[in-house]
Amino acid sequence: MKVLVFNGSPRGERSNTIQITGAFLSGFPEGTEIRQVDVYRSDIRPCRGCFSCWGKNEGHCVIDDDMQAIYGWIRESDTIIFSFPLYFFGMPSQMKALTDRCLPLMIPYDGDFTTDENASFHEFRKSETGEKRFVIISSCGYVKAAPMYPALTKQLELIFGEHGFTALYCPEGELFLFDQARRQREGYLSDVRNAGEEYARNGSLSEETRQKLARPILSPKGFQKITAVRWADKQKMLREPLE
Ligand SMILES: Cc1cc2nc3c(=O)[nH]c(=O)nc-3n(C[C@H](O)[C@H](O)[C@H](O)COP(=O)(O)O)c2cc1C
Repeated sequence: MKVLVFNGSPRGERSNTIQITGAFLSGFPEGTEIRQVDVYRSDIRPCRGCFSCWGKNEGHCVIDDDMQAIYGWIRESDTIIFSFPLYFFGMPSQMKALTDRCLPLMIPYDGDFTTDENASFHEFRKSETGEKRFVIISSCGYVKAAPMYPALTKQLELIFGEHGFTALYCPEGELFLFDQARRQREGYLSDVRNAGEEYARNGSLSEETRQKLARPILSPKGFQKITAVRWADKQKMLREPLE
């Protein structure tokens, strides 16, 4: 299996989300080839909207930057993981720039219209890129994932089709920064590792697994203590045990 991981957090290796992605990948079988691209460290310029990739330069982008190597890595991978924090209910800007620059890999829109609202509106050129599996791993700051992700989920459904991707949304991302929450975090990461095993085996995650991983890692009260310290510098609160 060849896996390409896009780390779309500006925090690089200190990203909360990439720690979750690392646990997910630790459930993949030995011998899995993994390549990681740190999106914020890469030279990925915004799409110019010239449509050259759907016209005279069919399938190719005219911008000469790191995307040229990335197109090759996308083509040769069978599983692509997008790992990023939730920013304003969507993906961070550099991740969006990368997404826009994937237009050359998509079939051009030719005026046809679909009545299937669950289909992808930006289908990959599968004859050139092969069948791919897409996984989205995202963490957010809020105590629950469900109310935070409807806009991103809709966007992903329009891009990949309703059943064309697997999403793993994790609440309370900021507690990855605090040692006091280590026990709860390790329990969570162990569930994520099991989810990685399940995904490598079945190519999907059960609803039960996705629900399990969307649950709060700490009780909302415990999480509030942590965020209070972070935002209001109330250090003394950390001496109290967390639930
Ligand atoms: C600019 C910005 C916007 C954010 N928007 C949201 C948001 O809409 N909802 C939310 O729950 N968390 C939001 N967050 C919090 C991050 O999603 C959260 O801290 C995440 O775990 C960071 O992950 P990372 O370490 O992988 O970058 C935002 C953070 C930043 C910096």
